[in-house]
Amino acid sequence: MHVAMIGTGYVGLVSGACFADFGHTVTCIDKDAGKIERLQTGGIPIYEPGLELLVAQNVKAGRLFFATDAEKAVREADAVFIGVGTPSRRGDGYADLSYVYAAVEEIAGFVEGFTVVVTKSTVPVGTGDEIEAIIKRVNPKADVAVVSNPEFLREGAAIEDFKRPDRVVVGTLDERAQAVMRELYRPLYLNETPILFTSRRTSELIKYAANAFLALKITYINEMADLCEAVGADVQQVARGIGLDGRIGAKFLNAGPGYGGSCFPKDTIALVRTARDAGAPLDLVETTVKVNDERKRAMARKVIKALGGDVKGKTVGVLGLTFKPNTDDMRDAPSLAIIPALQDKGAKVQAFDPEGHEARGLLTGVDFKDDPYDVAEGADVLVIITEWDQFRALNLNRIKLLMKAPVLVDLRNIYKPDDMRARGFAYTSIGRAAV
Ligand code: UDX
Repeated sequence: MHVAMIGTGYVGLVSGACFADFGHTVTCIDKDAGKIERLQTGGIPIYEPGLELLVAQNVKAGRLFFATDAEKAVREADAVFIGVGTPSRRGDGYADLSYVYAAVEEIAGFVEGFTVVVTKSTVPVGTGDEIEAIIKRVNPKADVAVVSNPEFLREGAAIEDFKRPDRVVVGTLDERAQAVMRELYRPLYLNETPILFTSRRTSELIKYAANAFLALKITYINEMADLCEAVGADVQQVARGIGLDGRIGAKFLNAGPGYGGSCFPKDTIALVRTARDAGAPLDLVETTVKVNDERKRAMARKVIKALGGDVKGKTVGVLGLTFKPNTDDMRDAPSLAIIPALQDKGAKVQAFDPEGHEARGLLTGVDFKDDPYDVAEGADVLVIITEWDQFRALNLNRIKLLMKAPVLVDLRNIYKPDDMRARGFAYTSIGRAAV
């Protein structure tokens, strides 16, 4: 099949490369000429494990192309995917659909023969109807079916998630479109991946419902962690104890500094807006958003407490700035709230992240270091915000000698309290109170 993928951001690039790897002919299109030029010469604009190799292999095999002009690829395409961003609209939190609509306006005039126009971007319920209306207006003769096909890719594990998904959701009742989508996902079909055909609106909502549920699940265990600290229980054992119940499930029960990233924060807020507008408010999701926001500030207070209540003039060493490991994405990272809160109270902050280079433009007054040991040097407290693998096996004796005082705040529970205390650290973690 021929695929045109509009948008070479995170979702578009991963999806395009994976469809090419399935054997389809894919052209990834982006208005950003610099980005396309870079991709054409083997450069990958984001950090995602395995992506560089996958792109290179498929370019070499003659199945993956990059272009700034959509016309040729769209004319040839059986399916045109819209994979552009839908950021939070400034001020009100609604999903900003201007990039989606601009992409649709552009491709509408080019479609030839029966073409499936697929929304991969996360869009509020009813957006498919609007896309259909735009295409009809721009090109009344176009023979198109507009389909919703949400992505469920986790950054850092996106290729695996694309190739071995728990399910594929396809929102269309059009049989011709269903046949095209089935053919596109045929390798997964052979693997017996459940492919769920629903109405378009249902599919659009499934994406938001999934992300909001996961955000809620994380927030639930985070609150439970606070209770564990208050009553002397261990949140990791609570998570295991409840997670083994098949009705609850063990995943997404790691307590931490609050969820961040490109999806959960913006999608929960957009869903809240949709639900209010529809007269069916989602109180649980609204509370999740509020509790998660508050949590980031609470994490700064936790650090201050570990320092005996005063951080003024103290040096805080921070390990990990991205919203999670194996990504360079800084969007809504807890570090962006925790660090300024500490600085406001007079702390000096020195930090290191293996890939979060963008942090330099987002945080002011931070002394960026080149490795964890430089961060530890002279620090009054070391705070682990993101659980990069390289922080899991630090030379703790060396860290202890470098620090002004051996105080460690582990917001991801990657070390063991007993072990750390035995090594002479004043150790604070999440939801694991000493009893
Ligand atoms: C998420 C969804 O998982 C994915 O299906 C969707 O398509 C996009 O949004 P992503 O944002 O890449 O993916 O990361 P994810 O692994 O879900 O983590 C999101 C946030 O939750 C991170 O800040 C992470 O640290 C936090 N988290 C996750 C926890 O605090 N505890 C957990 O148990 C899991």
